[in-house]
Amino acid sequence: MNVPGYRDQPTEAWDPIAPVDPGEAEDFLRRCYTENPRLGPVEPRLAVVRAQIAATGGYVHTTDELTYGAKMAWRNASRCIGRLYWRSLVVLDRRRARTADEIFSLLVAHLQFAGGGGRGTEPPKALGAIRPVISVFAAAQPGQPYARVWNEQLIRYAGYRQAGGGCVGDPRQVGFTAAMQGLGWRGKGEAFDVLPLAIETPAEGVRLYELPDRAVLEVPLSHPEYGWFAELGLRWHAVPAIANMRLTVGGVQYPLAPFNGWYMSTEVGARNLADADRYDLLPVVADRLGLDVSRESTLWRDRALVELNRAVLFSFERAGVKMSDHHTESARFVAHLRNEEKAGRPVPADWTWIVPPMSGALTPVFHRYYAEMDLRPAFYLDDDAASLARGCPHAG
Ligand code: ARG
Repeated sequence: MNVPGYRDQPTEAWDPIAPVDPGEAEDFLRRCYTENPRLGPVEPRLAVVRAQIAATGGYVHTTDELTYGAKMAWRNASRCIGRLYWRSLVVLDRRRARTADEIFSLLVAHLQFAGGGGRGTEPPKALGAIRPVISVFAAAQPGQPYARVWNEQLIRYAGYRQAGGGCVGDPRQVGFTAAMQGLGWRGKGEAFDVLPLAIETPAEGVRLYELPDRAVLEVPLSHPEYGWFAELGLRWHAVPAIANMRLTVGGVQYPLAPFNGWYMSTEVGARNLADADRYDLLPVVADRLGLDVSRESTLWRDRALVELNRAVLFSFERAGVKMSDHHTESARFVAHLRNEEKAGRPVPADWTWIVPPMSGALTPVFHRYYAEMDLRPAFYLDDDAASLARGCPHAG
């Protein structure tokens, strides 16, 4: 196994995991069994779980419970516009994996399957037919350290701070990239170097793994009309896989439960490649377009933004990689709101995240308010997970 860096001692900072709250366990199980009559009556199951919690401080989910709990966590994710398909989440039960090597090979399998390739539980699809997938690793035991991945996503591009103050690559990853270099990793120093995975287990410390090409589906960017666009040498990865959020289901904590959906184009075209503190490409695109950038009122930023987003959508479509645009995804979210209302369930939503970062008022999700609620099961980003992803293991 290729290990380009490691440190044997475990990290100091671990957000302590609380013991299972029996009330939360009961609330989840009742909901889970009510929404899934085929699971049978909940009372006998509750008796078993209560006894398990009393004896051990925790309990073990059945695969059905884990599967539905993960889907509910997606359904409750108030920042996600893509929740219409929450029932279709593919849940891979990886609770038996222990070593960093085992975890790594299952993460590679996750990425291959999510990208439409590899072998899985469904009939094989074509490469690029992105599937929403979550891999759930072992539950944390209260008060004990647990396996985790430091990366914020399974696939991210390195960012290298330059002597002059500039940056090559993704400025968001500068801290994490430096931490990987501190552990012995060396990147090519280019704009789209895929970062290694930093997998930490209590027994082994942290180990770095280089992702194989088959796990990293990427799309080179070109524009439907402007030939020069391809010369910019831009690309983006096809699978956004959040790696450091903790899944909590019925009081049980799963600190390693990476999940992915497919991209909405604005995430790449209006944020990752456009934000001034990310790839900051609007001035570059505006220059090639020959726009008048001397005054804001020429709306050169807006015009460059549209062309950048057209390039992203065009390129993914041409490559056969699933991606949605913000109009389509907004309409789907409205359909989701309707479905859930019919089912008698509230939909927690965060307006500031749901409304797309360009042309907000052109989409129906702009023109209304949403309920904000912290419903469980849910995904949370712990403080120490956030600091690890910034490359600061001690910040806490
Ligand atoms: N916005 C993040 C990114 O650009 C990904 C967040 C999750 N997105 C998704 N479509 N599931 O990488």
